[in-house]
Amino acid sequence: MTKLTYSQVTPKADFLNRRQIIAGAAGIGVSSLLAGQANAKTLEFTKSDYKVEGDITPKDAAITYNNFYEFGTGKDQPARYAEILTTDPWSVEIGGEVNNPGTYGLEDILKDVSLEERIYRFRCVEAWSMVVPWIGFKLSDLIAKADPTGNAKYVAFETLNRPEEMPGIGWAPSFPWPYVEGLRLDEAMHPLTIMATGMYGESLPNQNGAPLRLVVPWKYGFKSIKSIVKITLTEEEPPTTWNRIADNEYGFYSNVNPEVDHPRWSQASERPVGAGLFAGRIPTLMFNGYGDEVASLYDGMDLRKNF
Ligand code: MTE
Repeated sequence: MTKLTYSQVTPKADFLNRRQIIAGAAGIGVSSLLAGQANAKTLEFTKSDYKVEGDITPKDAAITYNNFYEFGTGKDQPARYAEILTTDPWSVEIGGEVNNPGTYGLEDILKDVSLEERIYRFRCVEAWSMVVPWIGFKLSDLIAKADPTGNAKYVAFETLNRPEEMPGIGWAPSFPWPYVEGLRLDEAMHPLTIMATGMYGESLPNQNGAPLRLVVPWKYGFKSIKSIVKITLTEEEPPTTWNRIADNEYGFYSNVNPEVDHPRWSQASERPVGAGLFAGRIPTLMFNGYGDEVASLYDGMDLRKNF
């Protein structure tokens, strides 16, 4: 992934002071803030048949090795800085080509859906991977509620843009904020596509995209947009952040494909995060192992161009 330079990074001292003040005022130890678990809530959910062979990534690794550029470009920065993000109240604006547009409180959205656990492989375009027990609901349930018109062909997603709580926005002012992503409508309606509200039995840590993020397990991780505040059904293919930054490296589809290398590295194998120093790399699977379920979505498409 394109590495942003740190030349525009502002001194972090002010920000750190603010965090310590907040921690003190709330009576929470800084150590629990650092662990990113101060607000963790146990969730009620059902188990599902969606699980993969192999070991689940240790929770500590999944919540401390993150990509969430709104909190800095370093893997450890989201866990350090995301705790001050206010995730309650939270609402999502749903609009565009729908018959029921509106702004819905998260608690209203959650009233009408059932949460289930899904243990999915998660493959980043940077060639590392995890196996994560997500808790979420089918995106199709939310889209059905919005009732798409006959013109809707795509779904666009937008992340919160709140610089005062997201220091990475100020550290990288040239990044095209807010982070945006998109899916074709049939991809969004696919039963594997979920909106996650939790992981490892608890509500999502902020650094993993609280309170609501997308998870599309057959696509590279950057499609799984975090902390979503806006969903728009569109007739045209929507712009996506990494495609805007480097269109020769990050396509709209970005299905996991071990046969199509990134221009700067191989995609044939991946490094399981948290598996131990001597675990070694494992082969990357076509569609991240979900080909039986999703390959037919791309019948007739040239998968070599489908990076
Ligand atoms: N969403 C937002 N808003 N900002 C980001 O920087 N990074 C993406 C994706 N969603 C990102 C985002 C990338 S590149 C990856 S690999 C995953 O989030 C990482 O998710 P994780 O930190 O929960 O493993």
